[in-house]
Amino acid sequence: MDWIIEVNNLSAFYGEKIALKNINIKFPKKVITAIIGPSGCGKSTLVRCLNRINDEIPNFKVTGEIYFKGKNIYDPDIDISEFRKNVGMVFQKPTVFPMSIYDNVAFGPRIHGIKDKRKLDLIVEKALRDAALWDEVKDELKKTATQLSGGQQQRLCIARAIAVEPEVLLLDEPTSALDPIATKKIEFLLEELSEKYTIIIVTHNLAQAIRISDYMAFLYRGDLIEFGETSKIVNQPESELTEAYLNGQIS
Ligand SMILES: Nc1ncnc2c1ncn2[C@@H]1O[C@H](COP(=O)(O)OP(=O)(O)O)[C@@H](O)[C@H]1O
Ligand SMILES: [Mg+2]
Repeated sequence: MDWIIEVNNLSAFYGEKIALKNINIKFPKKVITAIIGPSGCGKSTLVRCLNRINDEIPNFKVTGEIYFKGKNIYDPDIDISEFRKNVGMVFQKPTVFPMSIYDNVAFGPRIHGIKDKRKLDLIVEKALRDAALWDEVKDELKKTATQLSGGQQQRLCIARAIAVEPEVLLLDEPTSALDPIATKKIEFLLEELSEKYTIIIVTHNLAQAIRISDYMAFLYRGDLIEFGETSKIVNQPESELTEAYLNGQIS
């Protein structure tokens, strides 16, 4: 099987506190992998390590390696901005910038040097179409993004992330602040996007993980308990802990 990110013996620490214990996992390409497990088990820490967003936290430390397409992302010579172009991230709370819808989506491409207005127009339209938002906003691209609904803002964040054509899209509980209809829209969108992108989504919503994911990683207290195809894990979990979690006995 073809994978794009390989995590080798990854441990993560906040000061003395260990948050991830010797994790080994290979994330397959162009499918949806859900990272599941009870609150505090290390889901966010793992996904944040994958694009080095925890680097800024004082006392945060990792050991082990993470390879993106064969290159260790913690190598000192890695170009972080170029790397994050390839591995985008969407957070739980929509993080739109206080600027127009258009400027939100054009933000990344501009940073990466695209100035031509016609080119930017095309990129913005394509990203908004791919994020299933174009029809709702095409006549008001100059509107301030913060005026959109929560669900629209989250799709705008997805549009902003994909505007730079990443290979991997990381999402940390992207629907937990949204209503059921907005949640469904995002779930549908992610399934479509997985044809082009590798999607890694943290969710504490087990039903959601079962609905949309192809693979699942179950974390418990910093350990990776089980990783594999979602249908296999749901029907024949190998670990009693996984089974207990699936049955709602651990939350
Ligand atoms: N910034 C931080 N400083 C100290 N401890 C943290 C920080 N972020 C998370 N932790 C701790 O690391 C563990 C894993 O947290 P996290 O990855 O956020 O879990 P999850 O996303 O599964 O709820 C928890 O015990 C949490 O308290
Ligand atoms: Mg979390």
